[in-house]
Amino acid sequence: MITKCLFPAAGYGTRFLPATKAQPKEMLPILTKPLIQYGVEEAMQAGMKNIAFVTGRSKRAIEDHFDITYELEDKISGTSKESQLEGIRELIEKCTFSYTRQTHMRGLGDAILTGETLIGDQPFGVILADDLCVGDSQGVMAQMVRVFEKYQCSVVAVEEVPFEDVDKYGIVSGVRLDDEHLRVDRMVEKPAPEDAPSNLAVIGRYILTPDIFDILRNTPPGKNGEVQLTDALQTQAEQGKVIAFRFHGRRFDCGGIEGFVEATNFFFNLNK
Ligand code: G1P
Repeated sequence: MITKCLFPAAGYGTRFLPATKAQPKEMLPILTKPLIQYGVEEAMQAGMKNIAFVTGRSKRAIEDHFDITYELEDKISGTSKESQLEGIRELIEKCTFSYTRQTHMRGLGDAILTGETLIGDQPFGVILADDLCVGDSQGVMAQMVRVFEKYQCSVVAVEEVPFEDVDKYGIVSGVRLDDEHLRVDRMVEKPAPEDAPSNLAVIGRYILTPDIFDILRNTPPGKNGEVQLTDALQTQAEQGKVIAFRFHGRRFDCGGIEGFVEATNFFFNLNK
């Protein structure tokens, strides 16, 4: 049973300045719900009720969001507006939330390693809230738990991207097991299109086995001088211990304006 999910949430969100000048990018809303809440809901649906955040400076709004806002709640109690808080209240009741801070922006790998203290020695989920995922019949993380149960090793969610976009992602290649699964043998962080082993891109969903922490400790800075999770996963992949999974559903890249607007329209039309 995987009970913990780690949310790296220390990044600056420079692509959304000035909106992110004084608030975390994870709190930007798609309709009325902040991005991070979509991610936590997905984790909870997958049975991961211990939510761990790696935050940084200026991220306190995330802590406040996953807590009771006493004055406000007292004020709207018994009014029609109370129903708007049902979703977040359920999360607060059913999940636990813990936090640690990444003091220097040294990359996703370093953020994951910073989270070790909250995770310990067990497999865990990782959700990058910028990637908003809508699963077909169940959430993408819940789909990945099934894959983990079968293969008992790290799992990355992948989708095909246009070749000109491979330099935005971790790219994988490997041995096809069936229509949905690949045993990964190569992972490259943000390759140039001519160096990419495929156009299968890792999106911001991972299940990691805890040996990843020791590997990360020994992983030197890679692309852009940052410790890359992709490089640590390459070490596991060399041992045949990474499965790439073509998830069923849609993913919106809410780290950029275009994906953010697409997601907004998608949820707006869904709720009409
Ligand atoms: C990170 C990872 C990359 C992955 C991507 C998914 O990159 O380093 O391998 O494909 O998330 O969104 P970032 O988007 O943080 O630059």
